[in-house]
Formats: sequence, structure tokens, C-alpha cells
Amino acid sequence: MHFDIITLFPKMFSAITDEGVIARGIKKSLLSVNTWQLRDFSVNKYRNIDAPPYGGGGGMVMQVKPIRDCISKIKQKTINTTVVYLSPQGEKLDNKLVVELSELESLTLLCGRYEGIDERVIENDIDREISIGDYVISGGELGAMVLIDAVSRQIPGVLGNQESLNDSFVDGLLDYPHYTRPEKIDGQSVPEILLNGHQAKINVWRTEQAERNTYKKRPDLLKSR
Ligand SMILES: C[S@@+](CC[C@H](N)C(=O)[O-])C[C@H]1O[C@@H](n2cnc3c(N)ncnc32)[C@H](O)[C@@H]1O
Repeated sequence: MHFDIITLFPKMFSAITDEGVIARGIKKSLLSVNTWQLRDFSVNKYRNIDAPPYGGGGGMVMQVKPIRDCISKIKQKTINTTVVYLSPQGEKLDNKLVVELSELESLTLLCGRYEGIDERVIENDIDREISIGDYVISGGELGAMVLIDAVSRQIPGVLGNQESLNDSFVDGLLDYPHYTRPEKIDGQSVPEILLNGHQAKINVWRTEQAERNTYKKRPDLLKSR
């Protein structure tokens, strides 16, 4: 899957492209991530891409032309891309939407800054607005990284064989509890059932624990199952 990112801070993306799951996916040629510096599309020599809002008020607003030109350039290279504006006003990212996005060929992620972007871009140039939650952060970059990570985990081969099968939300439940060495620490022991090597019984126990976990921490998920 291919990601194009429109941003004022391309270096931020090295946090996901240099290390970890996404970096491995890139090495295996399962993923590609390309950043576009929006200032390269500025229409003035100062490389500005923002201006004060009409009607007054604080902050600056990202202008139409640099964003529009950048999207057109991306579309010349990647014809079938879906353009997403990361925004607190968008549809909320959840597992269902992550799976839906992972079936696309390519995503272009527009990262806002300041007060956000000129509304005419939202009306004319983007396909979807997506939020990572009901709070405001300072820029779309962290949201884009969250989205890229979650979507990339769905691409076959990016994770190891069994890694994501029982992740939280996959089947509407939270994950079961995990334990590793040592068997005992500070008076706490690993549940006996995980030590006896009887896989069928372990599977039943894990399902029960996943249900119990969900009931305790996120009962709302059980209602929509
Ligand atoms: C300070 S915010 C602007 C918020 C805007 N004035 C509002 O209240 O809707 C700057 C940028 O951060 C990004 N952003 C902020 N909160 C976000 C969220 N919850 N999900 C995704 N992106 C977000 C958006 O790209 C936004 O343009």
C-alpha cells in the first residue's frame, strides 16, 4: 500500500519509517511512504502557505492553492489515490474504518496546522475527513502516523504470521491477557492453564478472558456484537 503525506514537517515521519513495523513493511516492499513539503508549493518567495482568516479572529489558515497544486502533483503520479484530511471534525477512526482503508490502493494524507485549512479545500479537493478522536491536537502529522500504523498492520505480510489475529477489536472483543517469563515474580504467578500445553483448553480460556476483559473495560463493545 502507498501513502503520500502532505505536511509542513516531513521529518516527523521518520518516527515510523525508520524503525518498527512500518519500517519493516517498507523494507519488504509491502508499504511505501512519500512525504511532500507543502512549502514547496508556496506561491511566494517567503514560502508561506498560510494567511490570516477572513472575518478576523486569531491564528492562521492554510491556503487553497499550495494544497490544491500539491494534490494535483500527487494525482499525476498516483491516479487512484483517496485524499484524506486529518481533522478533529472528521469521521472517527475505528477498527472498521481501518480495515476499509486497508483495502484501498493508496492514501494521500493531508496534515493541517494552525487553525486548519481553507474550507474550499474540504469542499472541493478531499475525499474524506478522518479524526483520531474527540480532542484537538496541534497538527495532522500525529494523526496521520496513527492512521498509517493501524492501516499497515492490516496489510498481509506486514506483521508476523499470527500476530494480529487476536488483537483487540478484531472480533468485537478486547484481547486476552498475555504472560511471559518468568513463571513467578513478586508472588504473582502465570495462570496454571497456560503452562499445561493443552492448546484447546488454552483457547477456551483465552476466549473467556477476552469476554471478561471486554465486559470489565469496554462493555459498550458487547452491545454492538
Ligand atoms: C489546532 S488543529 C485545528 C483545529 C480546528 N481549528 C478545529 O477546531 O476544528 C490543527 C490541525 O491538527 C489536526 N488535528 C487536530 N485534531 C485532530 C484530530 N482529533 N484528528 C485528526 N487531526 C487532528 C488537523 O489537521 C488540524 O487542521
